[in-house]
Parts: sequence; structure tokens; C-alpha cells
Amino acid sequence: MYSSSGFEGNLYNFLDQEPQRAPIGVFDSGVGGLTVLRQLYRQLPHESIIYFGDTARLPYGIRSQADILQFVREILDWMQQQRVKMVIMACNTSSALALEIVREEYKIPILGVILPGAKAATQQGKRIGVIATPATAKSNAYKHAILEINPDVEVWQVGCPEFVPLIEQNRIDDPYTTEVARSYLEPLLQQDIDTLVYGCTHYPLLAPVVRSLVPSQVKIIDPAVHVVTACSQELDLLGLSNTHPPLPTRFVVSGCPQQFAQSGVQWLGCTPMVESVNWASVPVSQL
Ligand code: DGL
Repeated sequence: MYSSSGFEGNLYNFLDQEPQRAPIGVFDSGVGGLTVLRQLYRQLPHESIIYFGDTARLPYGIRSQADILQFVREILDWMQQQRVKMVIMACNTSSALALEIVREEYKIPILGVILPGAKAATQQGKRIGVIATPATAKSNAYKHAILEINPDVEVWQVGCPEFVPLIEQNRIDDPYTTEVARSYLEPLLQQDIDTLVYGCTHYPLLAPVVRSLVPSQVKIIDPAVHVVTACSQELDLLGLSNTHPPLPTRFVVSGCPQQFAQSGVQWLGCTPMVESVNWASVPVSQL
């Protein structure tokens, strides 16, 4: 079976006696990764999970590659200290700008969202639109991944700088959000796309808005679904699937725990207990 993480090392070196029981680490800048977490609950209910939201430093999507790389390394160092058995970068921006580099640096399987999303898109259509953060769109990561799988499709990408702040502020139902979405989707609809990819893990939280603006025949791809399928296959491949009852999910953020709990409740259906990371090294740097 093909390995999605390309991992070839031996996890038994640093995990305890039963690596299967170790949690999966999931991270994003904020609540976007909860769309991946929800898929984990659906598809892999036996797995224990540690969720990290770098809320002190969001949005990631307007940052430089150097910033993203620094943040991702700090998060992966921390994840390793938590003894996770695998990491899902539930963040397209990190997957686009840092995944290839950090995979070489860490002795742990790491999955990103872009390849699973790109594969799913090419199975659905020939005229593919991608909405993403400005950094992901500029990186052309989706375009490259899609064209590598099938050079005969056409791909258009739009950077959507306002989406993440609107979602983090819980402004999904605000008419302004619909207007912003209309302006981002218009150039893609003009190209007569048959498939639309949520190129940011925050965007499935806007599904009612996006669906109301996109013709019903356009297929919408949520890479969260597909990264979790890849994760399941990878766990089987590495002999790491947990068969014991899972531990409760740990939620940890770099910013305000109460704020994360408040916005997380509507996406999780329960109020998460949120810890804040005591990270002297987290600089709440200004852009
Ligand atoms: N949800 C992340 C992504 O998929 C990060 C968005 C952001 O913080 O700008 O790119």
C-alpha cells in the first residue's frame, strides 16, 4: 500500500510500549482544523487526539513562508513532546508552505491536506476552482498537485483574505460574509467550474453560504474528508491503529482558551475544555 506520509522510520524509538495508544496530533491556526477533527470523530472514533490551535498568531494565510515554517517547527517540537504517533496538518497554508521541508526534519509521520484534496478533485472534475488563503493560492500548491495527477484539467485559484477573520469572529450569518463570498466566487463561476475545492480548513464552516452561491451541479470537495481517509490507511500501514477506547480529546491553544471554547462549541456540539500552552517561545509577533 502507498504511504501518504512517506514515513519510513521507527516510531517505537520514542513512543512508549504501545504506540497504537498514542494520540494523533492535529493542528491549525484556529477553529479551521475542527473540520478535520469532526471527520476524525466520524471515520476514526477509536483514536485519541490532541488538537492545537495557534490562535495567538492567526491568520496564517497572510504570513510569509519563513513565519509559517517557524510556527510549524515549534508546533511539531511540542507535538513530539506530547508523544503523538502521527500529525495531521489540518491547515492548508502550513501544508503548502512547510510540509515538504519539515517531513525531512521530524521522525514522525506527517500528513497534509493538499494532496488528498487534489486527488479527490481530479476524481470529480475537469474544471477545478480552488478557494484558499492568499498564501496557499500564491504558492500554487493545489495547482501543482492537481496538474501532477492529471495535466489535462484546468485549475483556477482565488485567495480569500477576509474569510478566516470572518469565520473566527463567528460572522457566518452576517450578510456581509455572503457579499464577500460572492465576490471571491464570481471569477471561478465565470470560468464555468465543475468542481470547487475548499483550499482552507476554515472554509467548510462557510458551507451554507458557499452552497447558496454555487450552482448545484458544481461538486464541492472538502479535503478534510480525504485526509482522514489517508490517515486511516496510513495507521493501518504502519500498524498504529488504536483498538482501545480513546482518551478524551485535548484542546490546547496559544491564545485565549475561553474564546476558542466559545467558537468551538457550535462546530463540535459541546463546549470543549481548552488548555493554554505555556510556551515562552510563542512570540505574538506583529505582521
Ligand atoms: N485553516 C488554515 C488553512 O487551511 C489557516 C487559515 C489562516 O489562519 O489563515 O490554511
